[in-house]
Amino acid sequence: MTTTRTQVGIVGAGPAGLTLARLLENAGIETVVLEARSREYVEARIRAGVLEQTTVDLLSDAGVGERMQREGLVHHGISLQFDGERHRVPLSDLADGRAIVVYGQTEVVKDLVAARIASALPLLFEAEATGIEEIESEHPRIRFTHEGEQHVLECDVVAGCDGFHGVARASIPAHVLQTFEREYPFGWLGILAAVAPSIDELVYAHHADGFALLSLRSHELSRYYVQVRHDEDIGEWSDERIWEALQRRTTVAGWTLEEGPIVEKGVTGMRSFVAEPMQHGRLYLAGDAGHIVPPTGAKGLNLAINDVRILGEALIDWYRSGSTTDLDGYSAAALRRIWRAEHFSWWMTTMLHQFPGGDPFDEKLQLSQLRYVTASHAAATSLAENYVGLERV
Ligand code: FAD
Ligand code: PHB
Repeated sequence: MTTTRTQVGIVGAGPAGLTLARLLENAGIETVVLEARSREYVEARIRAGVLEQTTVDLLSDAGVGERMQREGLVHHGISLQFDGERHRVPLSDLADGRAIVVYGQTEVVKDLVAARIASALPLLFEAEATGIEEIESEHPRIRFTHEGEQHVLECDVVAGCDGFHGVARASIPAHVLQTFEREYPFGWLGILAAVAPSIDELVYAHHADGFALLSLRSHELSRYYVQVRHDEDIGEWSDERIWEALQRRTTVAGWTLEEGPIVEKGVTGMRSFVAEPMQHGRLYLAGDAGHIVPPTGAKGLNLAINDVRILGEALIDWYRSGSTTDLDGYSAAALRRIWRAEHFSWWMTTMLHQFPGGDPFDEKLQLSQLRYVTASHAAATSLAENYVGLERV
């Protein structure tokens, strides 16, 4: 067993952990990042694709935005489709010129890993945290395994950035944590296809067969989703069946969905979840470790980055001034934006999906809401400002 020391021990090398490490590096604070999976795995995992302007700005200011600035695709609108017609929501016109950037989470992670390696700072892959101890003391410790050996990392503070299934949240005593949860009776089957996207902007489609989303990763890669059962067996979805479902759910007159080779496919469950508070003693949760949103609002990654922005600033202030005021207020500050995104993601999900056993009344309400959101300036503005990310919550 070997014991090492650092200032901030970070569990998880997803967007939250890697971004926090970068923010602290820029302020001269020492960190060690522990990641259970391999570098190849972490860099290949296909997840989110839409970045809010504030996320783009933070990554750029942190010095990891160069490729994103070059390759990210700036979008000024999205479309909602229902009753076989598309209605554009001009996000930037409605939200003070703000836009979104389409740039895959995978690429964000690759850029952050490359920057960490270029700085020659500790980022251990295949290093699984097995326990976080003594969080109520001034010397919390992370137990982890790496290359078949047991290790202990002693820290001033631990940042639990280890996703929904990590160990950090479970290290907070049960009587301290309150959890809020909603599971949805459906999931998304997502594909990455090697074909030029048939759309210039994202399309969220309401359809009697179930929701569909047309998104993209680049000028050569399309990212499309269809609503499926939450326990759907992907084996039952041949490529042909997937394209058929996409064609049916997204069809509009005078437009063609181009098909191409599917290079990746998978099913994602949908849930809303929040754990409060996101801190106890010297352990702080950030990103999916503390909360989950269904992907319909494209908020998961953006929330993770917002958490570590607040946590990073609070830690920097603490190391510089000794004041714990901002650190003590971290959870409450982060939760304001989290609950706004929870509501927005739940609202988008509820408006666009088919609920098993849903009655015609629900369907009429959904269509009325969709018509209102696309016809009313006030309602469209509400969607737009939430979608691009509210500046103040
Ligand atoms: P993660 O990215 O989950 O990173 C946590 C890291 O911690 C992982 O690398 C994990 O391997 C590591 N880890 C876990 N346990 C340990 C341990 N014990 N020791 C060390 N390391 C550990 N959001 C959207 O907006 N749009 C989408 O389309 C979308 N699709 C998604 C698809 C899937 C399958 C999932 C799971 C999420 C999706 N999300 C999507 C949500 C978005 O990707 C997440 O919100 C985002 O990844 C959160 O970043 P994070 O760093 O908090 O967590
Ligand atoms: C994606 O491109 O993966 C994506 C885009 C928007 C969403 C969810 C996922 O709401």
